[in-house]
Amino acid sequence: MTWQEDYRRKVMQPREAVQCIQSNMRVYIHPGCAEPETLVEALMARGPFVKNVEIVHLLTTGRADYIAPQMEGHFRHNAMFIGSNVRQAVNEGRADYTPVFLSQVEEMFENGQMPIDVALIQVTPPDAHGFCCFGVGVEATMNAARNAKIVIAQINDQMPRTFGDCFIQVNEIDVVVEVSRPLCELRPVEITQTHHDIGKNVAGLIEDGATLQLGIGAIPDAVLLELKDHRDLGVHTEMLSDLAIPLIESGVINGSRKTIHPRKIVLGFVLGSKKLFDYVNNNPQFEFHPSKYTNDPFVISQNHKMAAVNSGLQVDITGQVCADSIGTSFYSGIGGQVDFIRGASACKGGKPIIALPATAKGGAISRIVPMLDPGAGVVTSRGSVHYVVTEFGVAYLHGRTIRQRAEALIEIAHPKFQEELYAYCEKTRWLQRPALQEN
Ligand code: COA
Repeated sequence: MTWQEDYRRKVMQPREAVQCIQSNMRVYIHPGCAEPETLVEALMARGPFVKNVEIVHLLTTGRADYIAPQMEGHFRHNAMFIGSNVRQAVNEGRADYTPVFLSQVEEMFENGQMPIDVALIQVTPPDAHGFCCFGVGVEATMNAARNAKIVIAQINDQMPRTFGDCFIQVNEIDVVVEVSRPLCELRPVEITQTHHDIGKNVAGLIEDGATLQLGIGAIPDAVLLELKDHRDLGVHTEMLSDLAIPLIESGVINGSRKTIHPRKIVLGFVLGSKKLFDYVNNNPQFEFHPSKYTNDPFVISQNHKMAAVNSGLQVDITGQVCADSIGTSFYSGIGGQVDFIRGASACKGGKPIIALPATAKGGAISRIVPMLDPGAGVVTSRGSVHYVVTEFGVAYLHGRTIRQRAEALIEIAHPKFQEELYAYCEKTRWLQRPALQEN
């Protein structure tokens, strides 16, 4: 049988395609801008006929109707990175959260710790050789599909064709649903003056010839805006946003000094707008790889001058970084933060950077705190932390004592909270104010 014949016999209507999903199965959904929305809609219609189906995925931006109260008992979501669409359900106990390094997600599918029954993926139509491309995101999905018992593919002619280790053969797909619909887009985040100030401080740490990783949120985007005058930057990252495009077009990002994959932008997925999807389409500058490769700290460390920029929600005075929860309320996930912090700290000339605004809630509270809120999750430990950056400056913590860390962090806290932080450190005897001299 030719691959064309094989393909044709696999084509079904969406509702027919998801009939194979039975009670007690685990279903993986292709995340981010690659979410196969037609398949997810069909799965929702199947809801009343199944019980206890676990839906597992990384960050998605779609409607996530499986967390609706009326779906209780039919579906239960397990988030490996919590998006705004499922945050409330996780915190109301209607969905679960699995904290995991992005570099280790695929291993769970492979070693049987988290077996996948059905993978819902979205890919391009097959090329002349019968290969479909994962397009805007290969991350954990190619290996989820490779390890799933059943692969249902939404074949979308609007999915860009990209390059790298990001293809699946028609013979690896069990069911095909053909669509033509725009991909999910991520709304641009608002970049405030504070983000710009932080971006400038971070950009001051990034040397010409560095290789960048940029995490999620407004700050990584603000950093990109401040790199216009840099030269010969490279990219090795899990994700990339629209704001990288001007730097690539102007030649600031050219990868010429990269020590692995020279000239190539190595990434796992893009999160952004149609403009970005069109930009990566058939663009040989981009090389998409699974997360177990992009996020492997050993691979990351082979890049020289790796500048890894991620954000946090709270940092305590010893340098512990909380990034996935606000107290006991789960907010996002671990993602690739630790993978890149570890990789960048092991490489020649690397700079692992945590950048965050000094305050939250319109300036009412400090994000640099004496102690993390009860329940706050440490994502980057005080052993792994290096640079912490706010709009007030840069604190270098690695290899420094608790006293030196406290001094450095108080300096980059908002001035209105500095006295309170100092007083706490005096009480714990971590800092002593110099005795006033009598004359
Ligand atoms: N106490 C109470 N509320 C806080 C807070 C604190 N200490 N810190 C932040 N918040 C609130 C903010 O005010 C904001 O609320 P709003 O949406 O009502 O304005 C919200 O929490 C989000 O904070 P913000 O700093 O704007 O988040 P962000 O979009 O810039 O993302 C992280 C920051 C840390 C959540 C994000 O980088 C992340 O999820 N990281 C996960 C780990 C990681 O870095 N992985 C690598 C990339 S996947």
